[in-house]
Amino acid sequence: MTDPRHRVISGKALDEDARIEASVRPASFGDYIGQDRVKENLQIAVEAARARGEALDHVLLYGPPGLGKTTLAQILASEMGSSIKISSGPLLEKKGDLTAVLTSLDPRDFLFLDEIHRLQPALEEILYPAMEDFRVDLIIGQGPGARVHPYQLNQFTLIGATTRAGLIMAPLRSRFGIVHRLDFYTPDDLEKIVTRSARILGITIDKDGSGEIARRSRGTPRVANRLLRRVRDYAEVRAKGHVTLGVARDALKMLGVDEHGLDETDRNLLLTIIQKYSGGPVGLNTIAASLSEEEDAIEEIYEPYLMQLGLLDRTQRGRVATALAYKHFGMEEPRRQPGLFS
Ligand SMILES: Nc1ncnc2c1ncn2[C@@H]1O[C@H](COP(=O)(O)OP(=O)(O)OP(=O)(O)O)[C@@H](O)[C@H]1O
Ligand SMILES: [Mg+2]
Repeated sequence: MTDPRHRVISGKALDEDARIEASVRPASFGDYIGQDRVKENLQIAVEAARARGEALDHVLLYGPPGLGKTTLAQILASEMGSSIKISSGPLLEKKGDLTAVLTSLDPRDFLFLDEIHRLQPALEEILYPAMEDFRVDLIIGQGPGARVHPYQLNQFTLIGATTRAGLIMAPLRSRFGIVHRLDFYTPDDLEKIVTRSARILGITIDKDGSGEIARRSRGTPRVANRLLRRVRDYAEVRAKGHVTLGVARDALKMLGVDEHGLDETDRNLLLTIIQKYSGGPVGLNTIAASLSEEEDAIEEIYEPYLMQLGLLDRTQRGRVATALAYKHFGMEEPRRQPGLFS
């Protein structure tokens, strides 16, 4: 099985990313490139909340990994002049864990809950009154003598982030005043991100070189920054450290990343559907079993970008390789029976 955490084009954070990300992560709206609509909406909300001296409304950010949800959360807190506490759905195990964080927040502080779709239902229920009325119910004592004490929290802002918006239930979702989806970045925006990161990391790179990395980064800043580092390694060993278009192309070829940013696993996924299942429709579980990959990883990392490129369709009856996918591999698309998939 290819562990998605080891794939050079994975949007998920790899261990080596953490250190570098801290140095290139934008710290203000001014440095946050792209996502203009989301950014503009958030900037207005921040300005209005600041003018009123209130906490910012709760914010839910969703979208594939590596698009800048955590970064935006940190920018929002800093633009509000507030502190931010960071936790995540799977990290909070007991009710007391969440209650302890909530009661520790100062007025207008931020609580960032990553992977909020993995929060346990019992903890989610604590969030409802906390978000709505800034209240938690503390249970004092045990057994029959236990008593419930409502406790007034300071006004705070919850920022929830998730890669799986579909797994967030309506009662939780409806309590967020501001909900934004982050989309894949355009090659132009990614080129700006690569250029900015290269400047910070002291990498000399031609505009063509940045453009090439940008085009192969699957619309994802985290991937762009990672490819930039791999290309730099190659340039240092083979090209005196200078990244030209040719150097970028050679390095990316060596990494197995093709001109669309697809790697071996993406190609295997499409070829499995095409060759083993006549182009589909085929169920996610079947594909996962064929590839020895996790269903979650396929849904979260591989498919969104393949769909964005128009190489894959999700239909009610399963996954389908598109005409474009056949073209990508220089193959002839078979004639399908009409009405076979919707
Ligand atoms: N708009 C942007 N401009 C410049 N760099 C960005 C932008 N968005 C993200 N990045 C870069 O990409 C890296 C990954 O972003 P971030 O950690 O915020 O993604 P995420 O959406 O929280 O991912 P995950 O779902 O894995 O938690 C950041 O460290 C930052 O360097
Ligand atoms: Mg994150």
